[in-house]
Amino acid sequence: MKKIICNNREEIGKAAAEIVLAQMKRKPDSILGFATGSSPIPLYNSLIELCKKSELDFSRVTSFNLDEYYPIKRENDQSYYYFMWDNLFSHVNIKRENVNILNGEAADPAGECRAYDEKIEKMGGIDLQILGIGHNGHIGFNEPAEFLSADTHMVTLTESTIKANSIYFKTEDEMPKSALTLGLGGIMKAKKIIVVINGSSKAQAVRRLFDRRVGTDCPGSILNLHNDVTVILDNEAAELI
Ligand code: GLP
Repeated sequence: MKKIICNNREEIGKAAAEIVLAQMKRKPDSILGFATGSSPIPLYNSLIELCKKSELDFSRVTSFNLDEYYPIKRENDQSYYYFMWDNLFSHVNIKRENVNILNGEAADPAGECRAYDEKIEKMGGIDLQILGIGHNGHIGFNEPAEFLSADTHMVTLTESTIKANSIYFKTEDEMPKSALTLGLGGIMKAKKIIVVINGSSKAQAVRRLFDRRVGTDCPGSILNLHNDVTVILDNEAAELI
């Protein structure tokens, strides 16, 4: 895994945006995998800026989001559907019909997951996947567990993730305790992966990510088996490596 160490979140955003820009220049009809959470926000701000300056064109891009809470309504301001439109899609020229986000209201979540994988496969796979990482090493919502799932699936969130993410909901009870997520097979099939990480609260997860041991206790550690991963992080997140 390559690493780029930056001084702050804005620098992380700019460095990650350079990689997205190069990808879109190489292939204007790229299939991009987007992530949510606070970590990619500076990247999305940089992409919006580049798009406003006409240096980026999303008109031929197709997107697949990594995960979504379940159950959750799209209009809930904590849904990842809402997050993506609010933080990126409404501000760039991506076509609505080219945006794919797992449906947190699907009556048949297993069918929803299967159809999502089939659509990604049919489109030729994700060219560039953007990731963050959870404090417990989760990527997407692939939580530490005895076994990890390859395919897109429904997952029960761990206490650690509920604690970390419930701050965004009015009460912990309002936070969905399950989610739909791309599996580790789906993530690893992406041709190129970037991981954006900031803050000292992620330093332990980063240490585990870089210790070269692959284990289900840290789903992100599987990225060591991919041949094109760039981790972009700030000094605080890198303080234990
Ligand atoms: C969330 C998301 C992940 C994200 C992670 C870290 O639960 N499902 O995709 O990478 O947790 O979030 P943050 O960047 O806010 O720390």
